[in-house]
Amino acid sequence: MKTALLRPEFGGRREPTHALAEATALGSALGLKIAFQASLRVRNRGAPSLFGAGQCAEIGRRLTDQCIESVIVDGDMSAAQQSSLEALWRVPVIDRTRLILDIFAKRARSREGVLQVELADLEYQRARLVRRWDHLERQRGATGFVGGAGETQIEADRRAIELRIEKLRRRLSKIVRTRALHRDARRRVPFSVVALVGYTNCGKSTLFNRLTASSVRAADMPFATLDPKMRAMQLPSGRTIILSDTVGFISDLPTELVAAFRATLEETASADLILLVENAAHPEADHQLQAVQATLHALGIIDSPPIMRVRNKIDLMTATDKLRLAAHHQPALSALTGEGLATLTRAIDVALRPPQAVERMILSHDEGRCRSWLHRNGVVVTEEHSSRGTEITVRWSPEQKGRFHTF
Ligand code: GTP
Repeated sequence: MKTALLRPEFGGRREPTHALAEATALGSALGLKIAFQASLRVRNRGAPSLFGAGQCAEIGRRLTDQCIESVIVDGDMSAAQQSSLEALWRVPVIDRTRLILDIFAKRARSREGVLQVELADLEYQRARLVRRWDHLERQRGATGFVGGAGETQIEADRRAIELRIEKLRRRLSKIVRTRALHRDARRRVPFSVVALVGYTNCGKSTLFNRLTASSVRAADMPFATLDPKMRAMQLPSGRTIILSDTVGFISDLPTELVAAFRATLEETASADLILLVENAAHPEADHQLQAVQATLHALGIIDSPPIMRVRNKIDLMTATDKLRLAAHHQPALSALTGEGLATLTRAIDVALRPPQAVERMILSHDEGRCRSWLHRNGVVVTEEHSSRGTEITVRWSPEQKGRFHTF
C-alpha cells in the first residue's frame, strides 16, 4: 500500500533523518511502501489537525498527486486529531503506537504473545475512547445537551473493552503463574539465566543463534523477535547457563505495550545477568541505549539484575572506532562474523562466578578424604605438610564451602 510518512517535530533532540529512517523500517515491516516522507514542524501539539492549515493543504495535494492510500504520523495524536486528518485527506491515518501494535500483532506467535498484543491493543483503544468521550463531554457542556446516542454507544463500547481486558488479564496472570512455577523448577537445577535485551534490530537474535548455535529467526526488520526464547548453552568454564532472547525495545515504546509485555519481561527481571546488546555502529547508538535504559527503568529493573553492555556489529566500524571501544574494557563483538565472541563468553563466566573467599585450614593425617575432595573440586591454592597435619589454603565460593561441610 502506498503510504506517506509524516513526522511531527516538536523541537526534540533526535536527528529527524534517523527518526524517519526508523519509522520507514517500521512501515516496511508492515508491508507499507513509503512513497514520500516529511518532517513537519508543529507549533501547537493541541491544534485540531495537529499540523497547521498550510501544511495540511500541501500534504493533501501531494497525497492526491501521488495516489497515496494511507498516512503514518510518526508520533502521538489524539483521536480527534486523527479523525480530523482523515476527514481532510480522505485516507486512513495511523499514529506510531498503532503502527507498532500492528507489527506486534503480525509477529506474535505464542499464545502468550497473542494475548499480550490483544491486551495492548485494547488498552490503546480504551485510552482513545476515553479521550473521545472527554471531547464529547466538552461539546455537550458547551451546548447544554445531555445524554444522547453517542454517549450510550461509547459507554457500551467502553464496557465491552473493559470486560475483554479483564478476561485477558486473568488468562495472562495464569500464564505468569505457570512461568513462575517453571522458573522455580529451573532454580532447583542450578542454571543461571542470562537475558538479552536491546533496541530493535541491534542483533540479539543473531547473537542468540551464535551462542546457542540454533536458528531463531534473525531478520533485518524491527521486532522479528516477539516471544521469548530460551536455550541452554555452555560457557568456556564448562558451566551451563540458560540464555533468553526477548522482544526488542524502541524509543517511545507505547506504554500500553510495556504494560502488556510486563509478564514476558519478568523473565528478564528475574535473570541472573542482563546482556544489553547495542548496535555500536548505529549513528543513534547513544539514543538507543537511553531508550533501552528508560524501558528497563519503567519495568522496575534498576540495580538488579546486573547489566553488562555488549557492543555488537563492530564489523561495520572503522579501526579507529574499534580502538576507542576497546578502551571501555567491555565486550565488543560481531554476532555476524563471530569476532569477539570468546571474550563475551569469558566475561559472562566471570560475571556469574560467585564471590570467592580465601581460607586456610589444617587437616590431620586421617582426614585424607577431605583433602582429596578439595583437590577434586580444584579449590586448593597452596599445600604444606607439617607435624600438625596438612596446611591447606583454599579459594572457594560459599556454595563450594557449603558442599565441603556436608559431603
Ligand atoms: P528484534 O527482533 O527487532 O528485536 O531484532 P534483533 O535485535 O533480534 O536483531 P537481529 O538479530 O534480527 O538482527 C537484525 C539485523 O542485523 C539482521 O539483518 C542481522 O543479520 C544484522 N546483524 C546482527 N548482528 C550483526 C553484526 O554483528 N554485524 C552486522 N553487520 N550485522 C548484524
